[in-house]
Amino acid sequence: MRKSLQTFGLSLFIVLAFLVIGIGFLFGIDNPVPWIMIIVLAALPVIHKKITSRQFVSWDDSLSVGIQAIDDEHQKLLTLINNLQTAVLYPTGESFERHALSELVDYTKYHFRREEELMQEYDYPEYELHKRQHHEMIERVLVFLDAYEKDREATIDEMTVFLKTWLTNHIAGTDQKYSQFLRDKGVR
Ligand code: FEO
Repeated sequence: MRKSLQTFGLSLFIVLAFLVIGIGFLFGIDNPVPWIMIIVLAALPVIHKKITSRQFVSWDDSLSVGIQAIDDEHQKLLTLINNLQTAVLYPTGESFERHALSELVDYTKYHFRREEELMQEYDYPEYELHKRQHHEMIERVLVFLDAYEKDREATIDEMTVFLKTWLTNHIAGTDQKYSQFLRDKGVR
């Protein structure tokens, strides 16, 4: 859902809740409806935090490929994904969003290059297959970026979900495949 729509919906709910509380108390202090609304309003920040926190990604050791430099880069990618997610969820402004997006895309390209160089250096047998996945992902991102320039609000949500899902699945899946091979070659 678009940020402006979310903000409008939440604001409308809060205004209506205060109205219900005000009118509810006109029917007596022992009317349960306004009290229930007060509890709902008080719980709103906690509920909101719980819902939004699920949309952020976090590092855990199962994502490690056992090579420190690559793990560092993957952790930075997760941080940049979360920055972009922040831009999507909160009214941070267009320049923050654009900066978060370009930082994530640029760092992804940089990381892919570094990883490909490493795989190539050690003759990783699935190098071409892995490189193709990187390439296809970047191609998809370019299509998204083009759509983003035409309609920022309509594209950013879908693009963020794509970047987050693709990168986390790739780190947890395809990247794990070279881990043992490179570690056996002495890469740490
Ligand atoms: Fe860590 Fe294949 O990207």
